[in-house]
Amino acid sequence: MQNHKKQKEPNLKKLLSGRSVILISNRGPVEFKRDEFGNLITKRGGGGLVTAMTAISEETRATWISAAMTDVEQAMARDDVVVGFPEDNPLYHIKLVDIPKSVYKPYYNVISNPLLWFIHHYIWNLSRAPDITAETHRAWREGYVVANKLLADAAAEESLLHINPIIMIQDYHLFLAAKYIRQQTDRAFLFHFTHIPWPEPDYMSILPYEMRTELLAGMLANDLLGFQTRHYANNFLLCCESLLGCVVNWKRKSALWQGREVYVRSYPISIDRAGLQKISVSSDVLKHETKLKKDYKDQALIVRTDRCDPSKNIIRGFLAFDILLQKHPELKEKVKFLALLYPTRENIKLYKDYRLEVESTVQKINDRHKTDSWTPIYLRIKDNYPESVAALKCYDVLLVNPIFDGMNLVSKEGPFINKRNGVLILSENAGAFSELGNSCLSINPFDVDETAEAIYKAINMPAYEKQARSASLKEIVEKNSSVKWLYYQLKDIVTIEKKKSAVKAVKEVAETVER
Ligand code: G6P
Repeated sequence: MQNHKKQKEPNLKKLLSGRSVILISNRGPVEFKRDEFGNLITKRGGGGLVTAMTAISEETRATWISAAMTDVEQAMARDDVVVGFPEDNPLYHIKLVDIPKSVYKPYYNVISNPLLWFIHHYIWNLSRAPDITAETHRAWREGYVVANKLLADAAAEESLLHINPIIMIQDYHLFLAAKYIRQQTDRAFLFHFTHIPWPEPDYMSILPYEMRTELLAGMLANDLLGFQTRHYANNFLLCCESLLGCVVNWKRKSALWQGREVYVRSYPISIDRAGLQKISVSSDVLKHETKLKKDYKDQALIVRTDRCDPSKNIIRGFLAFDILLQKHPELKEKVKFLALLYPTRENIKLYKDYRLEVESTVQKINDRHKTDSWTPIYLRIKDNYPESVAALKCYDVLLVNPIFDGMNLVSKEGPFINKRNGVLILSENAGAFSELGNSCLSINPFDVDETAEAIYKAINMPAYEKQARSASLKEIVEKNSSVKWLYYQLKDIVTIEKKKSAVKAVKEVAETVER
């Protein structure tokens, strides 16, 4: 493991000054199951949100409220079980909310995914889908609205146990939660963070009028809204202006809604450096690393690791590799593409179909180019975090080519732990591009020819250039951290609260004078 410069983390204690943090998200940080003897066992949850928010929860000693997903979790929720985590040294607490299956299914499998996820990532094939039907409207009313209310109720109830807490609402599953919390209490500061892109108004208007109005108004029940990039924050304000007709103050980056000023800011999320560094030297990761090095010692390693999601543009990545091998047959047996994917949202037909297409594309490309002793692509669609971390340590080329992506933490985690001066190929539509754009090889994610060229360039890049790019990426990633990400949010929360109490004081004086 190379030496990472120790970056000083900011002091959150002063900003928090004893206040509690309550976090709400759809998916919790761990999955609870029972083993064959009936003992409770846990498995780390997947995805960028869980990775980032786990570090935040530990740092702030938060209470994390999320939906109970399995039968075991539903039973825990009904019994009001609160679990301290990590088990050996509890730093934060997990509370689960029982959402009936008849609500959860339409909330998650119809509205959150695919409808909202596909809108936010611009991945509907609009001449054919989506069809907004009576079922969609029902799923909104009886699923999305109800689930938001149930999770909001739990957060409002929890807020009664704390003085002046901060409620941090996470992502697209919970666009309405703030509205329901505000209806019950004004004791908390409400802050929503959107981890995914925010689309432009025309694309947002795929959602029927009532849904998009309710959604935007629901967001504006918060005190502060956070997005991954300035571009997404601006898109949100544009939607407020043109779809909701609310007044936007572009200078102050705020929206005026129902007598309140709602602030809109960008906070590019970062990685949990300490956590990743620790895992990267664990025995599991080292075992995989040794194997990868042995198996592919004479080959350039191209790596990707993603959830198996259409927004990740996995198939175009393979098509680019196919083009590369057609144009440069001399690379046969000298390169290997490791695609380490995670199964995701497999109850949804569009995801199931996508997985099948990924598998059949790999099959075709492997059949076309394989030799007796070499298969070009190794595809794994299985949860194996240690293997993915090992691959990130060993890549020569890391391919991150999403169609659109809120941030994409792999593009930061990879350069942070990679040991081979590997080259990052990054889509210009990933949120991370605004930070890493100058040090990666940038691609238009739709241009498979350009992507093939980029892979070729990366494989053949002179050592000094690889070293310079990789050092620059590491430096950028090391400057930020999830603690810093939270620090900037808390700083804004404190400033906004000061402004609000000043306005309130002036109003009170004016009212007294009037009387
Ligand atoms: C990834 C995305 C997040 C999203 C999460 C939910 O982490 O980056 O924006 O909230 O997935 O995924 P899930 O599997 O719970 O639907």
